[in-house]
Amino acid sequence: MCKSTVHLFSDGVFMLINLAVQVSNDAVLESTVDEAIASGNLAGKIYVDCSTVHPNTSIAVCRKITEAGAKFVAAPVFGASPVAEAGRLIFVSAGPESARMAIDPYLKGVMGRSIIDMGEDVSKSSLLKIAGNICTGLGPAILEQMLGDNFGPVIESYSKRLTTGAYAPAVDAKAGFDVALAIKDAKHAINCATEAGTDLEVSRVALKNMELACELQKGKPLDSSSMYGTIREDAGLDFYTDLCKKRDGVA
Ligand SMILES: *[C@@H]1O[C@H](CO)[C@@H](O)[C@H](O)[C@H]1NC(C)=O
Repeated sequence: MCKSTVHLFSDGVFMLINLAVQVSNDAVLESTVDEAIASGNLAGKIYVDCSTVHPNTSIAVCRKITEAGAKFVAAPVFGASPVAEAGRLIFVSAGPESARMAIDPYLKGVMGRSIIDMGEDVSKSSLLKIAGNICTGLGPAILEQMLGDNFGPVIESYSKRLTTGAYAPAVDAKAGFDVALAIKDAKHAINCATEAGTDLEVSRVALKNMELACELQKGKPLDSSSMYGTIREDAGLDFYTDLCKKRDGVA
């Protein structure tokens, strides 16, 4: 456990930043908050919690802080200490708008390179932090920003191929990178690996899903990312997203 609280003053704003990024359990955050409340008047202050806790803990702690007359911002981060030292953390912040705006300048360009704004509901930032790549209740736009901020423009552009429907273009359109080419390349990669005495398991999975996409949508233009459609079908969804169906006039 590494527990430290930083106090920042500015323009009458008094911030308490709980930097216990590695809080061992939620009870530690609760006791840290209880200590802060017991230590004196929190009125008019902003309590920023950067640890990763259960969304319910954020809600409970927010209630206590608010009752003590302060504002609570749940701001868990993506990135370990070397990332923080380089000022490259990604903050995910949720809480009252005025508090989020007040703390912005202390996060961005100081410890963080970006802030993903989750709005007023303090449970949402923990949810994004914990969810990682499970997007229950968050929505693809937020998830896409998280992917872009965390992993860069290449991954973000892949995400966009899914969210914009480019993975499965309209019948009269052309794929960005045709799945047939991707299948050919994947086979080359797998063969080269075999010759070198190794196996590309992930490429095999990708190849299988790309080939299935071609079978499922015979004759239609498909992008190299069309395995998304295969995986959607595996999950009991339609190959085409609602956006695609709207575009093609079939929904
Ligand atoms: C979180 O809160 C919800 C709603 O009150 C509740 O249904 C759920 O069981 C809680 N989860 C945990 C882990 O406490």
